Amino acid sequence: MECDIKDNNLAQMGKKRIEWASNDMPVLTQVREKFAKEKPFSGLKMSACLHMTAETANLARTLKEGGADVALCASNPLSTQDDVVASLVEDYGISVFAIKGENTDTFYKHLKAVIAHSPNITMDDGADLISTIHKEHPELIKQIIGSMEETTTGVIRLRAMEKDSALKIPIVAVNDAKTKNMFDNRYGTGQSTLDGIIRATDMLIAGKNVVVAGYGWCGRGFADRARGMGAKVIVTEVDPIKALEAAMDGFEVSPMVEAAKKGDLFCTITGDINIIDKQHFEVMKDGAFVCNSGHFDCEINLKNLEKMSENIKKDIRNFVDEYTLKNDDGTKKRIFVLAEGRLINLSAAEGHPASVMDMSFATQALAGEWVVKNKDILKPKVYNVSEEIENTVANLKLRSMDIQIDKLTEEQKNYLESWQEGT
Ligand code: ADE
Repeated sequence: MECDIKDNNLAQMGKKRIEWASNDMPVLTQVREKFAKEKPFSGLKMSACLHMTAETANLARTLKEGGADVALCASNPLSTQDDVVASLVEDYGISVFAIKGENTDTFYKHLKAVIAHSPNITMDDGADLISTIHKEHPELIKQIIGSMEETTTGVIRLRAMEKDSALKIPIVAVNDAKTKNMFDNRYGTGQSTLDGIIRATDMLIAGKNVVVAGYGWCGRGFADRARGMGAKVIVTEVDPIKALEAAMDGFEVSPMVEAAKKGDLFCTITGDINIIDKQHFEVMKDGAFVCNSGHFDCEINLKNLEKMSENIKKDIRNFVDEYTLKNDDGTKKRIFVLAEGRLINLSAAEGHPASVMDMSFATQALAGEWVVKNKDILKPKVYNVSEEIENTVANLKLRSMDIQIDKLTEEQKNYLESWQEGT
């Protein structure tokens, strides 16, 4: 079996982590048991470019139980858990190409390796796999029956491809499922981003001015959690509706250039580029911390920060780089950048907790089964996850939490379906 990982001897520790995560993934476990019986992916090759974590390992186990021949690579150079991938190779017989801290060349070499696996189904977290196949391996397009996309940034890229008529493969926008973004993006990102910041810095959040760029599901989750720990949160937005929502949720809302003067800690979660740039660094306070929890490392303009700095000290602590800048009056200030502007939650912490990835990855796995079942009718476009899958995942999660809910009576159903009754 082909693989490229840091050290196979780390497998024992990795297996413990995979099993620990599995304890908190009851929905995915049930899907795995169903797949073990029904083998929906029998004879199919799957390539996935995802964050290589213990939670992803449980997804990969599920796909393999379903009959797939699986190959994995990392969707971010810093998010790989080396012990987990060692266990995937040693204990579960799954091909993995991922090493934490790999450079850009190795990242693309690994992406190419899972493309060379010659997949029939792919999974992406950020659309790197599917866009590389379109650009460099169009010969594979006809054998790929569908692809699942895990994250907002990836879905935006894929919808842009669809709009340009460049998309040649059916896609399921797993990110857009309610069972994914309302929980993973909000509660997962909210908690894991703070976790990454705290692990990297050991800072006290209470009393800090925390600036959150972007008030999508992820930004909302983070703003809420930071407030819960006693921070004074300022939200920056470009969308008037989201800005209004943030204001009515009780947050201060202001342009970044104003917020930049006040912030002790900045976190970008927008999916766009250069959210924090020269004009913002210029007015920041001495000792400000800057990090990103959006998919790509383009939200903070580190090139400009580098140019503005007279001194850069790397790794003054794990995941912390210190940039020293000269102010106009000749005094100096330091800006601390966390995890080189890459996803802080997956770089400095362990990503979202298993309990929330349970829903996202059960949705992924069932979306994969849906693609196989519907392969003869799917077109090269972006599909939403079916309501049936969403309800299955939500009901299984509720059951695992021992929560019961009411059912509509016949009378209530009829009332909802009728239009004659009024005031
Ligand atoms: N994305 C965010 N958190 C994650 C995790 N724990 N595993 C895989 N992908 C993730």
